[in-house]
Amino acid sequence: MFIIHNFAVFEGGDGSGTTTQLGLLRRRFDASKTALPALHATFEPSDGPVGALIRSALKGELPLKKETIARLFAADRNEHLYGRGGVLERSGQGELVISDRYTLSSLVYQGIDCGEELPRSLNEAFPGPELLIFFDLDPEIAQKRLEGRPGRDIYEYLEFQVKVRERYKALLPEYEKAGVWVELVDASQKPEEVEQEVWRALQKMPIFKP
Ligand code: TYD
Repeated sequence: MFIIHNFAVFEGGDGSGTTTQLGLLRRRFDASKTALPALHATFEPSDGPVGALIRSALKGELPLKKETIARLFAADRNEHLYGRGGVLERSGQGELVISDRYTLSSLVYQGIDCGEELPRSLNEAFPGPELLIFFDLDPEIAQKRLEGRPGRDIYEYLEFQVKVRERYKALLPEYEKAGVWVELVDASQKPEEVEQEVWRALQKMPIFKP
């Protein structure tokens, strides 16, 4: 698998805290008194036009076929990766790019929804990240966290999330074999503790070497 240097991704079930952690990391970079690489924190589904379509489908407002949603995720990713100011451009300029979700989310979520084949064929040509941090959390605990939030998307129920965790665990070794460096973080800890683990993993990336 072709690997994009300076590119890390966060992956995990809904409620596992990837978005919170990216926020904490942003704060760390903003507050740092020592020189750090420029951070570009980004996410999928993106804030572009295809991402907006996906979000309304996930809320259940836009009734789309599952296979259409799988294709939209891949189209959104193509823009996110190759578009202007995207992952490839920024990481190539020496920024540290971290994305909240990437290809593995499609293999896991759309794999459960539409069967393995479609998301695999839609995603096989995308390059891999240098580092993948998996936020491991018991789906029951994750559900409790989601209860405090307004609205639910179509994937945010327990039976689905139990499968999500299983699929992640089954697929992570494949990414490792393909040359992606995988770190597993215990996401049941307090946010500050998770952030310490995330930071320790990130600092091993070559971009931090003098
Ligand atoms: P999420 O990171 O939870 O966004 P938010 O914090 O705005 O709720 O992602 C939204 C959902 O999209 C999440 O349930 C996972 C799902 N998803 C896929 O099903 N396939 C994908 O390829 C991606 C990137 C996300």
